[in-house]
Amino acid sequence: MIKYLGSKRRLVPVLGELLARAGATTAIDLFTGTTRVAQEFKRRGAEVWAVDSAAYSRAFAECYVASDAEGVDRAKLEAAIEHLEAAPGVDGYVTETFCRRSRYFQPFNGMRIDAIRDAIDSDFRASPLYPVLLTSLLEAADRVDSTTGVQMAYLKEWAPRSSQPLQLRVPELLAGPGHAVGGDALTVAPTLPEVDVAYLDPPYNQHRYFTNYHVWETLVRWDAPAHYGVACKRLDAREPRTHSPFNTRATMGTALAELIRNLRARVTIVSISDESWVSLDDLVAVFETDAVEVLTFDSRRYVGAQIGIFNPSGERVGRVSHLRNREHLVVAGERTEVREIVASAPAAAAL
Ligand SMILES: C[S@@+](CC[C@H](N)C(=O)[O-])C[C@H]1O[C@@H](n2cnc3c(N)ncnc32)[C@H](O)[C@@H]1O
Repeated sequence: MIKYLGSKRRLVPVLGELLARAGATTAIDLFTGTTRVAQEFKRRGAEVWAVDSAAYSRAFAECYVASDAEGVDRAKLEAAIEHLEAAPGVDGYVTETFCRRSRYFQPFNGMRIDAIRDAIDSDFRASPLYPVLLTSLLEAADRVDSTTGVQMAYLKEWAPRSSQPLQLRVPELLAGPGHAVGGDALTVAPTLPEVDVAYLDPPYNQHRYFTNYHVWETLVRWDAPAHYGVACKRLDAREPRTHSPFNTRATMGTALAELIRNLRARVTIVSISDESWVSLDDLVAVFETDAVEVLTFDSRRYVGAQIGIFNPSGERVGRVSHLRNREHLVVAGERTEVREIVASAPAAAAL
């Protein structure tokens, strides 16, 4: 999987356990990003709807969530990867924009990315393998990039890994049904079915994924956009339609509250951190009728603090804003169920 800001790699086992404890067979992963949480839910047997506004995330979701490993011809997939690997280099948009004008990849790899991406379109556009091959290319490109993990800048000196030759791998697909939904979470949420568990992992602050991962966005859209600045960001990054209400302080809180109101889920789990614009207290207050429990993790160890937002008589108690630099999982739903699910959350969740 690609390097991704805010990726919940270390929370995946906890989220998987919460899903299992809820006995969930259906789940939504809104703001799915790399899809690693959706993949874990699918691995544990749930039918998952993976939602994100980024084009590259949609490709990942179509590959790992919507594709059923049982229905994909593995031999055909391997042959397709071999065919793409053999494509002779092309001096195209990636080589010019991301290797010469900027330095995200070394030109010898940029030329291969250009060639492979062209061939994916010309030879596999109508194939069910299309998103799987795109995913393979994105992950291969990520392994030889020259950044610190975001694409607002590239390293002054080539990263050692960028000297390695780009190599496609066969993505490990999962068996079972699933759905990839591209679009704004606020628009998509009312169209989603009722599910057992909804997981929400919105952006925390002003850092936009559209600009942080503009190279991946362009590689998937393959629209050779006009660009600006030393980082060669897409010019359409300046257009309001590419902005997310979750990246603006003034709109983040109300957008999240609206989103939660529009979801139909037995159990809702929301990730926030204390670097988030929405405070834990404000988020808890959104769940008017539901019981809420909070699992808190710091960057080194599992705190184990299950902060009871309700006392035994069911009254809302306490403030939690004293917690610093921590990640919270806010779990909301019917009281007895939420308590049971959270009480057994794995303590092995050292971050
Ligand atoms: C914190 S990241 C999610 C990381 C993900 N849970 C993972 O582990 O990879 C937030 C995600 O929200 C997406 N996003 C931002 N604004 C959005 C919106 N309005 N609707 C849907 N997705 C959005 C971004 O593209 C990004 O992938």
